[in-house]
Amino acid sequence: MSAPQEHTQVPIPNGWFAVAMSNELVKGTVLRAHYFDRELVVFRTRNGDVRVLDAYCPHLGAHLGEGGRVLGETIRCPFHGWQYGGDGACVKIPYSKKDPPKKARVKSWPVSERNGFVFVWHDSEDGEPTWELPQLDEFSSAGWTEPRYHELKVPVHIQDMAENNCDPIHFHFVHGNFNPGNSEVFDGENGDERGDSSHYFRAVSTSTQETPLGSFDTELERRTWGLGLVAVGVKGIGEAGLLMLAATTPVDHNNTHSRWLFTVTEDMADLAGEDFIASFSAGVQQDMRIWQNKIHRPAPVLCEADTELAFFRKWVRQFYPSKGRVTALPTKGQASREVS
Ligand code: FES
Ligand SMILES: [Fe+2]
Repeated sequence: MSAPQEHTQVPIPNGWFAVAMSNELVKGTVLRAHYFDRELVVFRTRNGDVRVLDAYCPHLGAHLGEGGRVLGETIRCPFHGWQYGGDGACVKIPYSKKDPPKKARVKSWPVSERNGFVFVWHDSEDGEPTWELPQLDEFSSAGWTEPRYHELKVPVHIQDMAENNCDPIHFHFVHGNFNPGNSEVFDGENGDERGDSSHYFRAVSTSTQETPLGSFDTELERRTWGLGLVAVGVKGIGEAGLLMLAATTPVDHNNTHSRWLFTVTEDMADLAGEDFIASFSAGVQQDMRIWQNKIHRPAPVLCEADTELAFFRKWVRQFYPSKGRVTALPTKGQASREVS
């Protein structure tokens, strides 16, 4: 008889996650979105602020993202015209002489618009943000190309997708190339704190790249802010630079949406820009067959050489509730249980 299948639902982690691109949202735009297993409405007010609210109107439940309209700094429900401010409170009922009921309020999500993305803070216990996202100079500097965009949806929990970056061995088996792994550089934002206790860590690997222009000692630097944002930079080919920014968001417990921006120094645009984008896109397609068919192992069996995977599993605990212990939610026929 075969062993019972393990189907464990992992909670959705806390942190900053992208829900839209800035350039999708000119003033007055209203977008419907589904992330964190919830329906959301995203809009840009006439003053230019982006607001993200839970989507269902407290009145009779219409979806604010399906026909809702921006009026000044508010969004108007498509059903009976109740207006909600950026803090989620109803500020006006156009056909009522009294103030709106206090209960007429939806959740308002903290928003941070950075590097071309609109991020919201997800906190399963509704806590306030505990850290900020960076603004990266490359995305607003002369000398770097206008960013190119790529996106994909992957049927795995966000943690499984992020874990790929801390898994040097899979490069050999899945991608057919050698990855030297990261040198022991897991430092925090100021370089003086170890990354395993901070929302941020930086990992660097070096390798020799053979190119038609010669042999270069390149450095690949990966900076990670929570589970929602990663910057991958390549240096060492002359003064040229390549940078990829990946913003990854949980759609629900089993699906993840990843948005990538690529920019290269102008001198690299023709030479390597397209190849850089193409190689990342092709690589992720190779991962897809694994992702589409894998399960999540909350307590994987690791070997002594899986040091980076062990680091990653320890680091991610900070993004889950219950003081770092991941609670496996019950699935059909299973009782809830805790895993470490
Ligand atoms: S359902 Fe929104 S105003 Fe009635
Ligand atoms: Fe991969």
